[in-house]
Amino acid sequence: MSLQSSEPKMISILGATGSVGESSLDIVCSDPERYQIRALTAHRNVDKLAEAARLSKADYAAVADEASYGRLKELLSGTGIEVGAGEIGLEHAATLPADIVIGAIVGAAGIKPTMAALKAGNQLALANKETLVCAGDLVMAEARRQDLRILPVDSEHNAIFQIFDEANIDEIDEVTITASGGPFRTWAQADIEKATAEQALKHPNWDMGAKITIDSASMMNKGLEVIEAHHLYAVRQDKFKVVVHPQSIIHGMVSYSDGSVLAHLAAPDMRTPIAHCLAWPERAAAKTKRLDLIALGQMTFEAPDPVRFPCLQLALDAMKAGGNMPNIMNAANEIAVAAFLEGEITFGGIASLVEAVMTKMDGDGGLPVSSLDLVLELDQKARQLALELKS
Ligand SMILES: NC(=O)c1ccc[n+]([C@@H]2O[C@H](COP(=O)([O-])OP(=O)(O)OC[C@H]3O[C@@H](n4cnc5c(N)ncnc54)[C@H](OP(=O)(O)O)[C@@H]3O)[C@@H](O)[C@H]2O)c1
Repeated sequence: MSLQSSEPKMISILGATGSVGESSLDIVCSDPERYQIRALTAHRNVDKLAEAARLSKADYAAVADEASYGRLKELLSGTGIEVGAGEIGLEHAATLPADIVIGAIVGAAGIKPTMAALKAGNQLALANKETLVCAGDLVMAEARRQDLRILPVDSEHNAIFQIFDEANIDEIDEVTITASGGPFRTWAQADIEKATAEQALKHPNWDMGAKITIDSASMMNKGLEVIEAHHLYAVRQDKFKVVVHPQSIIHGMVSYSDGSVLAHLAAPDMRTPIAHCLAWPERAAAKTKRLDLIALGQMTFEAPDPVRFPCLQLALDAMKAGGNMPNIMNAANEIAVAAFLEGEITFGGIASLVEAVMTKMDGDGGLPVSSLDLVLELDQKARQLALELKS
């Protein structure tokens, strides 16, 4: 639904208490003439959710964890802000009429609310890459049905969005996604395998939620991003390339058949792609970090190393296999990352566990992404198997 351009755009944020959620609130709340908050959601961080809802004067706030409903209601009593909880609460937040719904939930938990937002005809700005990894075929089909673009919040995909010449798609030779290489870029394989959570959580360039930070350290994040990109941009799988670029200044590049290479540059600040999505198709000023090339001095590039970072290769293998294999791989990875953070498996154990689940569920992986029910069923099956195999 689109409101008149003179009125503020109504924005809902699914996953408002996370890293992307906070950056989104920062952009929205710093320009009240342009943006207003419709709905906010969280998992169980009710205090932070209630504070954000009060400050942003949201119409509606919902918490996924039903046990936290009472506390949320209490915190927001007398404010006029409606509250909800559980799957129904999140669905309500996603489907309230809004100009843009920002999908910033982490993991496959974002699939249902994301699909609900799209089915309601709400324009989606999507950070939650796992939704595209697991159910990309369904999400893209629904977006086409609704005649909506998925606006990519992920910095690499947003970069590509800005330089991708759709009118000349046949002349695109390569689409390059850059990777910082994470904290273990220069480490020996044996050291990476026994890295601690504290070491893995120290990302050199970005301040992000725990799950994506671990995925960045293992380079699973880059694999997830290639799968995400292949759903968003209709070029052949083998045209997507990963280049390690430790400074995280170039976020994406598109190479054309005449030798031209378009690159998108920006200082590493998630508020930049968020601001781009919120203002699209216009541009609007936003208080973001600025790029100073002289101060930066140099940019360097390296090939990724699939031997030291096997998760990247596993994700590329899953994409090649197609069907539900990326979904299965993602579920196994979510369990493996949680287990690593709990100290139950080693860092090297993440890739081993993901690979074991992919191997055992090879048959299921071959099933096409035909329905949301199947995606969610296989997600659960892969999680269960990963939990059994890790113990
Ligand atoms: N952070 C970045 O810079 C960045 C960049 C590009 C893409 N992304 C992608 O954006 C997504 C969010 O990342 P993030 O770093 O912002 O994550 P995060 O900081 O961990 O925040 C995750 C958000 O999702 C909510 N959530 C978690 N589990 C949930 C569940 N089961 N049901 C409903 N809500 C749930 C959390 O609520 P609580 O606070 O209550 O737990 C929180 O609001 C991820 O898919 C990530 O890959 C992130």
